[in-house]
Amino acid sequence: MAKRKRRNTPDAPVSEPPVRPGLLSPTRAVPPGIGRPPYAASGDPGPSRSSSVRTSEEVGRMRRAGAAAAEILVEAGRAVEPGITTDRIDAIVHEAALARGGYPSPLNYRGYPKSVCTSVNEVICHGIPDSRPLADGDIINIDVTIFLDGVHGDTSVTFLVGDVDDHSRWLVNETRTAMDLGIDVVRPGQPVHAIGRAIERHARKHGLGVVREFIGHGVGTEFHSGLQVKHYFDPRDDTVLVPGMTFTVEPMLTLGDPACALWDDNWTAVTLDGRRTAQFEHTLLVTEDGVERLTVLPDGTAPAELFAG
Ligand code: MF3
Ligand code: CO
Ligand code: CO
Repeated sequence: MAKRKRRNTPDAPVSEPPVRPGLLSPTRAVPPGIGRPPYAASGDPGPSRSSSVRTSEEVGRMRRAGAAAAEILVEAGRAVEPGITTDRIDAIVHEAALARGGYPSPLNYRGYPKSVCTSVNEVICHGIPDSRPLADGDIINIDVTIFLDGVHGDTSVTFLVGDVDDHSRWLVNETRTAMDLGIDVVRPGQPVHAIGRAIERHARKHGLGVVREFIGHGVGTEFHSGLQVKHYFDPRDDTVLVPGMTFTVEPMLTLGDPACALWDDNWTAVTLDGRRTAQFEHTLLVTEDGVERLTVLPDGTAPAELFAG
């Protein structure tokens, strides 16, 4: 039998020029009157102590936080074009969170300096908005989390900037499909490892790498709570899903080797081989008979659907 031709690594080029750190703008202020998460002043979220199962009252609040996060992500996505700086995107997300009476969850989370994560090209995740203007042909993941009415909604999309090469467009599309396939297996009675298994199978079939160092997580009254959701198969993750659980699925797929390195800022994670990477994320609720995406617009549309290209 002929070996299946893999579409990946050897022919996907290193992303050029590499992304380099830019300059940070001053810290953005949050007016008094906006409800802040416990870490807002100290930077320290403390140990996770919340249950992974939400009350129905909390679910109602999480729907509103999820919808707000989706709306903010759409606002940020509409601003994506060659020439805009990632700092400007941070300003848009910051103001959009405040306008909804919410707090931009990343701000001072474990000391993170900005209100959103902007991860360009070979940056896997946690890119810090700075003075770098987007260039025609870039891809950028914008990861929005809002703390609204005591709960977090966490969602991200990878956007295309202008005219993007075929490898990158293909990576972005297959990463979104991988997230959808992971979400599709969510229902009561399933082990959490079914999610990573579905994502990894899709990635492998297409010759794409799966980043292992960053994972999905329980989310609710805390930004990151107990539950861990790997994007690859780990049979030890045999926690069974039950109605009321809320967590994220947020796979990062790579054109080349998924091994990562960290910049000196201790946040920005990049691929070691310099090839490009994409990510999508939803906050999910396990329902009585399946799954509900909480990070959708009030009419049920997911932000990614508005930008699919
Ligand atoms: N939103 C990211 C996630 O999906 C977390 C960002 S933490 C920050 O989990 F501090 F970098 F903002
Ligand atoms: Co997340
Ligand atoms: Co996120």
